[in-house]
Amino acid sequence: MRLARPIYQKNGSNILLNKGCNNLMIYKDKLAALGIHYAYIEDEISAGIKISDVVRESTRTKSKKIVHDAMNSVAKGKDINTKQIKNAVENMINDILKNQNILISLADVRSVDEYTFAHSVNVAVLSLILGNALQYNRYQLQKLGVGALLHDIGKAKIPGEIIHKPGKLSAEEFSLIKDHPKLGFDTVKDNWCLSPLSRIVILAHHEKVDGTGYPRRVKSEDIHDFAKIVAICDVFDALTADRCYSPKWPINEALEYLVEHSGIHFDRELTEKFIERIAAYPNGSLVTLNDGRRGIVAAQNTINPTRPIIKILEEPDKKLESTTYYDVNLLNDSSIDIVALE
Ligand SMILES: [Fe+2]
Repeated sequence: MRLARPIYQKNGSNILLNKGCNNLMIYKDKLAALGIHYAYIEDEISAGIKISDVVRESTRTKSKKIVHDAMNSVAKGKDINTKQIKNAVENMINDILKNQNILISLADVRSVDEYTFAHSVNVAVLSLILGNALQYNRYQLQKLGVGALLHDIGKAKIPGEIIHKPGKLSAEEFSLIKDHPKLGFDTVKDNWCLSPLSRIVILAHHEKVDGTGYPRRVKSEDIHDFAKIVAICDVFDALTADRCYSPKWPINEALEYLVEHSGIHFDRELTEKFIERIAAYPNGSLVTLNDGRRGIVAAQNTINPTRPIIKILEEPDKKLESTTYYDVNLLNDSSIDIVALE
């Protein structure tokens, strides 16, 4: 069992364990203490299954470092380096435009400490993918991406003990957290290097289309599409990542959550468009079918993100030998459904 993707340290740029590392079980407890409960591995079962990312690993790593630096600057009351932020977004756009046909199928493995930086980068990547699916031009993508990358910048003004608190927050602490859109907006509102459209994302990413969000409780018609996009990507990424106060949700359940709340919290059309781009059952995940067979998701059908190709490893009465594994394409047989995702 070898590590298939590296695991990063606190600031999101230093590698803790590198790709190819063996004997992972030795590090299991140490990783768990850092809040890392899963990893991408290579073994006999996963042989030949490609886990492709829409952006290069180097783009993610550099962007995480840039968000880390920007948050440090804000915490110290200094100006953020907008040129670096724009460059990071430009790199993401270039990668995404090259990989238009890949469904989002990858969770960024992150420790609790680097959560905020990895989350900001993920939200930016997801927002750009949705923006690209909406046929936004490069200028629009750039403004959307910058807003998404900086959406939680206001959290830099809130003590880390509260942001990372594992237990229940007091009413006072919760109301302080809810100040982060306003705190973030205040730090950038006079920064003319940032487009007003990027700045509005920071202020409005927790507004809900029914007017029950914060800080301004505005309704759909008064929320810019960029903020509505980031709201969807923000919640989706938060649900599908391990956080200090709750374990990650399976992707299909997070997508169901979005559907259930579309038209209430999230814009209905944007949510539908988003779901079209996400692999409900990512490559490499273990699934159970309604006929009792178990297998691993081997590849995606881009035209239907809920019907992937499954490599069968187990039949109801027996485990298969690796030489007898076979593929089932759910697109070709509507009587077969996935009933559980691990
Ligand atoms: Fe936020």
